[in-house]
Amino acid sequence: EPVPLIDQFQRRISYLRLSVTDRCDLRCGYCMPERQEFLPRKDVLSLEELHRLALGFIARGVTKLRLTGGEPLVRRDMIELVQALGRKLGDGLEELTLTTNGTRLAEFADSIAAAGVKRINVSLDTLDRAGFARLARRDSLPQVLEGIAAARAAGLRVKLNTVALKGINEAELPELIAWAHGQGMDLTLIEVMPLGEVEADRFDHYLPLTAVRAALEARFTLADSPHRTGGPARYVEVAETGGRLGFITPLTNNFCDGCNRVRVTATGQLFACLGGTEQVDLRAALRSDDPDAALSAALDTAMRIKPLRHAFAIDRPGAAPALARHMSMTGG
Ligand code: GTP
Ligand code: 5AD
Ligand code: SF4
Repeated sequence: EPVPLIDQFQRRISYLRLSVTDRCDLRCGYCMPERQEFLPRKDVLSLEELHRLALGFIARGVTKLRLTGGEPLVRRDMIELVQALGRKLGDGLEELTLTTNGTRLAEFADSIAAAGVKRINVSLDTLDRAGFARLARRDSLPQVLEGIAAARAAGLRVKLNTVALKGINEAELPELIAWAHGQGMDLTLIEVMPLGEVEADRFDHYLPLTAVRAALEARFTLADSPHRTGGPARYVEVAETGGRLGFITPLTNNFCDGCNRVRVTATGQLFACLGGTEQVDLRAALRSDDPDAALSAALDTAMRIKPLRHAFAIDRPGAAPALARHMSMTGG
């Protein structure tokens, strides 16, 4: 029996978000700067190190593993990693999944499904090609839509992630929801969080999901759903579409009491909270003489420093210092 990971507030950590690369082929303004200096190869964990790290977490009772980035599918050996980790499904690991921007799914969806992945999350903020190109600073909507179709054709369940942005996709949200549900996909709305070089526009674009929900109720009948996926989303059923809509509300409805996760960057830095700076160097553990023991000890350290909750605030500029770290470092 694994010795479980339990933090100082008695929360059981069963969900690892593992970033496999800092790189991305898009440049969404809320996630990454246009000019990003990428990490030197030697700083990034190797395939073997990522595998060993994941096994170390599984040995401590982690059952849900999500691969993130940057964009996970821009890493060349990503499919090998998915295949290696897929072999742990049913042997300690209950769910293996990824969060992707979708641009490369047309190429990789079949291999991902064949490795045992059942569902994936795809980020999509708009169905408008020009709007997408402005937001992501790349004209890639056609590839993303092709990617989503390929994933579904491969038998993967797809959930869409949509960051709600005032004056950008706000008016389009009902249409986006109806489109997703019409194809049998769940969609989750996300409150934009202040990470990275947060300029005034991040505050200008912040849209509380309490207000979004109220506006949606003019068009849709929403009923709270008990559905849970192990992440922070709370769901409603939409009567008119028969689909499920999720809300991720770090700002308006804190969900940290039930936190079950930590994230690790592509350089092996464990961040105990998305909205904090508490960190543990797992790469040093992995590159030590006794990596498995050092890793397990480092995870115990992480459990002692994980904060109770994040300190994000975005409702008024200057309300709280934003985190200097970009979202692309921790993969969300
Ligand atoms: P499911 O397994 O489908 O529940 O996925 P998930 O919501 O756990 O993962 P996903 O990668 O789709 O993340 C969606 C959004 O939730 C992203 O914007 C993440 O940054 C955010 N998110 C996930 N976990 C946390 C968390 O612990 N704290 C905060 N503040 N945001 C989180
Ligand atoms: N605030 C909220 N969500 C964000 N994401 C990226 N940056 C931010 C941010 N600043 C979302 C992406 C993706 C998920 C992993 O995180 O859209 O769906
Ligand atoms: Fe957990 Fe921190 Fe996310 Fe809150 S913000 S749910 S404590 S990781």
